[in-house]
Amino acid sequence: MTYPFWMPCLVVHGGAGEPPMTERAERQAAVERGLECGWRAMERGAMEAVLAAVRQLEDEPSLNAAVGACLNRDGEIELDAALMEGGELNVGAVGAVKDVRHPVDLARAVMEDGSHVLLTGEGASRFARQRGVETCDPEVFMTDRQLRNWWEAGDTVGAVAFDDRGRTAVAVSTGGTYRKWPGRLGDSPLAGAGFYAEDGMGVACGTGVGEGFMRLCLCHLAVMEMGHGMPAPEVASKAVDHLARRVGGSGGVILIDAKGVPAAACNTSFMSWAKRVG
Ligand code: GLY
Repeated sequence: MTYPFWMPCLVVHGGAGEPPMTERAERQAAVERGLECGWRAMERGAMEAVLAAVRQLEDEPSLNAAVGACLNRDGEIELDAALMEGGELNVGAVGAVKDVRHPVDLARAVMEDGSHVLLTGEGASRFARQRGVETCDPEVFMTDRQLRNWWEAGDTVGAVAFDDRGRTAVAVSTGGTYRKWPGRLGDSPLAGAGFYAEDGMGVACGTGVGEGFMRLCLCHLAVMEMGHGMPAPEVASKAVDHLARRVGGSGGVILIDAKGVPAAACNTSFMSWAKRVG
């Protein structure tokens, strides 16, 4: 079978928010490393590219995912992650996991199993152990910086990809919001809110305080707008305007439209992101 050739594209972000100026260069450098890892995997398709990118970002202590994730009000880390492929609309997601080394790997195992879309908490950890997904001591995720700052957050890491067959995929991972209530889930493990992909329409990933994305189903809305012909840069800027105006939300989005055109926008003072096309 022959496929039409498309120009591959990968967009990666390391979160939108108001981090101290002193941390911004470090976060951008972390995102560039994620982009490199993802791009190296692009020859194996959009899904492998977003997984490789987000796995790397989960290891970056300056970003709010896995190692370096923000703490909840009990001083613990609870991690959310998800991924979606735009062909069959398969989704795997996990929420509030404490001991899974790479939450995006567990999201993949949930997606590949196919019985469920979203697993949370202890049940998700049990599923990880049953499937041979690496678990760890939660201390692995703690850094001096988190313990010092108890950090502002609501940011996320994520990646969207469009491969040379026009296939779309998205992956996302986060520690959620600073001082969140234990058990709180944000937009990141919720399809349509924090991420969405549909081949022939586009792919989107959000970052910021998740409650606004959840109330608006913002990433689904963005993909539908791209699918109905609105250019990706216009969708990105309208999405973050809508977030601010309609629900007072803050954050950013990264997108790729159905022709492989990337875009990004935020309504915060900073979002670390990077893209590669070609
Ligand atoms: N966007 C990350 C969260 O609100 O959990």
